Amino acid sequence: MKIFLIGFMGSGKSAIGKLLSDKLQFQFYDTDTLVEKHLNQDIPGIFQTKGEKVFRQTEQEILQNILTETSNTVVSTGGGLPCFFENMEWMNAHGITIYLKRTTETLIDFLQHQRQNRPLLSGSADLKHTVNLLLEKREIFYTKSKMIVEIDGDESDEMVVKKIQILID
Ligand code: S3P
Repeated sequence: MKIFLIGFMGSGKSAIGKLLSDKLQFQFYDTDTLVEKHLNQDIPGIFQTKGEKVFRQTEQEILQNILTETSNTVVSTGGGLPCFFENMEWMNAHGITIYLKRTTETLIDFLQHQRQNRPLLSGSADLKHTVNLLLEKREIFYTKSKMIVEIDGDESDEMVVKKIQILID
């Protein structure tokens, strides 16, 4: 079984994915970490020196490699991954896609302090506007997920993982 966690930057995919994989005793992959390892560079550096196109191509290759694995796996995906190539269709064909949906306000609150490592946001003069624009374009892809988990601002990662476990049971 493969579980793909989908969602906007700052929605908690990596932390929740790790916790979920521990609970289920599944393997855990984080596509951002794998891209960084593969190119031996951090994400801001990749965007700056190689460009977004190379990042997206590498992200796609990483995903394809994961899809061929046979073990039980939780995959935390980068916020843009479902919106490029046929990535969303592939994930839906190979496993359970779960959209971790937070309110725009919660995302903006969090990203205000966490955007230095996120090249699509770090240069924005108007974070709220940029997040709103991106979310509007991406929601179409995210909502192709098989399951949607709505998360309140005050919910702990533990609580979210419990919700996911009930959903996939
Ligand atoms: C991106 C999200 C990031 C990372 C890169 C691009 C995006 O991952 O893949 O900065 O396009 O939304 P997180 O969602 O883990 O922040």
